[in-house]
Amino acid sequence: MKIRKANGLDGAAIRNLIRLYPGKLIQEHLPRTGEFFVAIEGKKIVGCCALAVYSKRLAEIRSLAVDPNFQGKGIGRALVDACMKEAKRRKVYEVLSVTGAKELFEKHGFNTFNQEKYAMIRVLG
Ligand SMILES: CC(C)(COP(=O)(O)OP(=O)(O)OC[C@H]1O[C@@H](n2cnc3c(N)ncnc32)[C@H](O)[C@@H]1OP(=O)(O)O)[C@@H](O)C(=O)NCCC(=O)NCCS
Repeated sequence: MKIRKANGLDGAAIRNLIRLYPGKLIQEHLPRTGEFFVAIEGKKIVGCCALAVYSKRLAEIRSLAVDPNFQGKGIGRALVDACMKEAKRRKVYEVLSVTGAKELFEKHGFNTFNQEKYAMIRVLG
């Protein structure tokens, strides 16, 4: 398995992966293809994850998806790793994730903010 930055040709495969999880992943306003990392097995894209950098202060890990046939092999973890390395490389101060995969992110050191119990979000769109 190899992780690399997505290129312009990967957009359709990325969207197909995200479409597998309509209940778990937001389907609109997706990150730009260039913001994604993809996981390759053989020649197939089997996972994706984006780092959207909003400012020097804040970036968000978004649209993490792994093909159901390739789950449980560490691909999700490797994709989050790649995003975290990119955030560090770009010297971003903090990284946010709105996610159902709580344990995976906890293993990467994510937690609730300081003593606050909830990170709250309101969708306006
Ligand atoms: C969540 C998801 C990306 C994990 O991918 P994966 O390649 O199977 O994950 P890994 O094999 O790297 O597992 C890493 C850790 O994630 C956790 N994990 C795995 N699958 C999980 C799931 N479905 N839900 C929550 N946590 C999960 C486990 O704690 C695992 O730790 P372990 O290796 O010590 O057992 C994958 O199940 C998926 O695509 N789910 C649907 C979309 C989704 O929920 N995305 C996350 C929202 S941002």
